[in-house]
Amino acid sequence: MKAFYLDSANVEQAKKVAEWGWVKGITTNPSLLTRSEYPPETTLLNLAAAMPGVPVFYQLTAPDLDNMLREADRARQLLQERLVLKIPATTAGLAACARLSPHQPVAVTTVYHTAQALAANAAGAQYLIFYHDRALRRLEDGHQLAAELVRALAGTSTQIIAASIKSLEEIYAVRMAGITHLTVPFEVLAQIGAYEPTLKDVEAFQETGSGLLEE
Ligand code: E4P
Repeated sequence: MKAFYLDSANVEQAKKVAEWGWVKGITTNPSLLTRSEYPPETTLLNLAAAMPGVPVFYQLTAPDLDNMLREADRARQLLQERLVLKIPATTAGLAACARLSPHQPVAVTTVYHTAQALAANAAGAQYLIFYHDRALRRLEDGHQLAAELVRALAGTSTQIIAASIKSLEEIYAVRMAGITHLTVPFEVLAQIGAYEPTLKDVEAFQETGSGLLEE
């Protein structure tokens, strides 16, 4: 695995995950930011402070190129070198990616087709984000999307990030398709360290005793 990211705009979750030390960034989107009680600027700064030194992904909401570029400027002022800009794979979004990617990391997001991935790569995207669970629900052959994207971008500089991950089984499925970057909600990340068979063993070992801290 190359990287797990936290898919959240919840500052308490970001603080907990920062303590774990193995989650290497945080991805937000407009719906996640709307759930915060603070304005997006405040939440983004709080998230950046909660997870020091790692990338903070912010998704542009503007519908047209000029406003996307203005919004990107605003995001850059706020998060500086920590910012990765998420830009939807629309006509305006791909144009914004082409303009911005020489100067700053861009993740083209909401990708559901290989052709969009190729366009994102041609526009200089450093990352490509596809929504695994949404693809399973919306596309007839959604379970093939991860492997198709991996094949399409093999040997290029665009890294694929799997998003919309709802379970440990989905983590397994995207990794088996060749994905090495995943953004995962807190609830699913937390399941990794609380897997029932492991907890049972640990409990049994603790009952056995013989640890260095025992009298
Ligand atoms: C992350 O970048 C995406 O915005 C997110 O994973 C979408 O997930 P959802 O399908 O749970 O909304």
